[in-house]
Amino acid sequence: MPPKPYISPSIVAIRHQLGAKAPAPLMAPALRVRREIDGVAVAALTEAHGSPLFVYSERQLVALHDRARAAFDRAWPDTTFAWSYKTCYLRSICAFFHARGSLAEVVSEFEYDKARRLGVPGANILFNGPWKPLSALRKAVRDGARIHLDNFEEIEDLETVVREHGQPVHVTIRLNLDAGIYPVWSKFGFNLESGQALNAVRRLHQGGLLHLDGLHCHIGTFVLDPSAYARTVAKLAAFALECTAISGRSIRSLDLGGGFPSLSQLKGIYQPPEIAVPPIEAYADAIGTAMRAAYPGPGPAPRLLLETGRHLVDEAGYLITTVTSSKVSPDTRRSYLIDGGVHLLYTSTWYNFTLEVDRPTAGLAEPACLNGALCMNIDVVSDGLLLPQLERGTRLTLSPVGAYNLTQSMPFIHCRPAAVLIRHDGRVEVMRRAETIDDIEQGESLPADLALS
Ligand SMILES: Cc1ncc(COP(=O)(O)O)c(C=O)c1O
Repeated sequence: MPPKPYISPSIVAIRHQLGAKAPAPLMAPALRVRREIDGVAVAALTEAHGSPLFVYSERQLVALHDRARAAFDRAWPDTTFAWSYKTCYLRSICAFFHARGSLAEVVSEFEYDKARRLGVPGANILFNGPWKPLSALRKAVRDGARIHLDNFEEIEDLETVVREHGQPVHVTIRLNLDAGIYPVWSKFGFNLESGQALNAVRRLHQGGLLHLDGLHCHIGTFVLDPSAYARTVAKLAAFALECTAISGRSIRSLDLGGGFPSLSQLKGIYQPPEIAVPPIEAYADAIGTAMRAAYPGPGPAPRLLLETGRHLVDEAGYLITTVTSSKVSPDTRRSYLIDGGVHLLYTSTWYNFTLEVDRPTAGLAEPACLNGALCMNIDVVSDGLLLPQLERGTRLTLSPVGAYNLTQSMPFIHCRPAAVLIRHDGRVEVMRRAETIDDIEQGESLPADLALS
């Protein structure tokens, strides 16, 4: 066996400067060696598709989906999932969930068009979101999509479209309410406690064109308290009776939005370590129990809809990056530069990712930070780390990053990398090729007199 190279330890001085920003508390992440994802070598993935590289695991997607499905099949079988497009709207990921019976939950005309282009029938689309232009409302009414109304102006707009269309449509209204999760996401929908939601119901009834038969509320994301959903069900069920008293119509669906957490680690200021992430079964049980209490029978209960995003996809996604250089900062931290950055990892603001290396490391752990490849000082992917020495070329796999990163990534300073899916049988399929300069410039035009000769 060849002798291991000697790596000298470094002496660390922690300097405190008056007026300087307090150093981030040090954290030693479990730095495991990961040479493969689902049996495919990390090195082979980057050799074939480049670094950085988004990698999704179909096995993980199946495991996450099937476990959540089974939990709700036990707790409240009449539950339908609607894939929240913004969480990750790569066509392959959306198609994966649609193939398993999920509806599409979209929040813009762009997402609506994506779902339709993928072949989702209008009737299988929940059209949510705070702004739906008239053109989008026209498409949704034409296709028979389910529209979730957000504000009074939107009621007027939809009535305009329905008048053109000639026939009333069934609608859902979005509510915001106090379920014990703060701050209340009051930006969206009509507030329940202030009476605004009841006014919206009266307004719909007076208009006579929009027949209310669904209620929706998304109480937040990464909700760590399952009982918040039980409180939401109780409030929606009570409100459903008030709606029926006004309109004479029964409420046929309750849509609880998304919000179930993944196993991602929220930064300490958001989630103290003693608060663990409850399993999906705890959410299903809380919701099922609340539904049975609200609808003890014998009459029919409304159908339950869920717009779960993060929980179903986060742990299925990885970002492979490569260490390109390192230097010791004046404050003695070792700064590692990687070829990814915050332009690919929007959620790095809130979450500490798990870091895994493709080779064994040596040397004492020392204060370190992970900086991205942007020529921007804000491009800090992770700080306050204790890391062993990482050599140039080390491939670092960051996870879980499957939710909200790819869709919010931007071609800023660098083109965006490829995204691949490792199929259940180990085949690697490109879901989106790496972007090129042509992709980025194709929408631009250059005034003739500005063209360089
Ligand atoms: C209306 C709505 N539904 C569903 C979701 C998905 O939420 P999550 O990813 O937390 O499950 C969101 C996310 O913010 C949302 O705004």
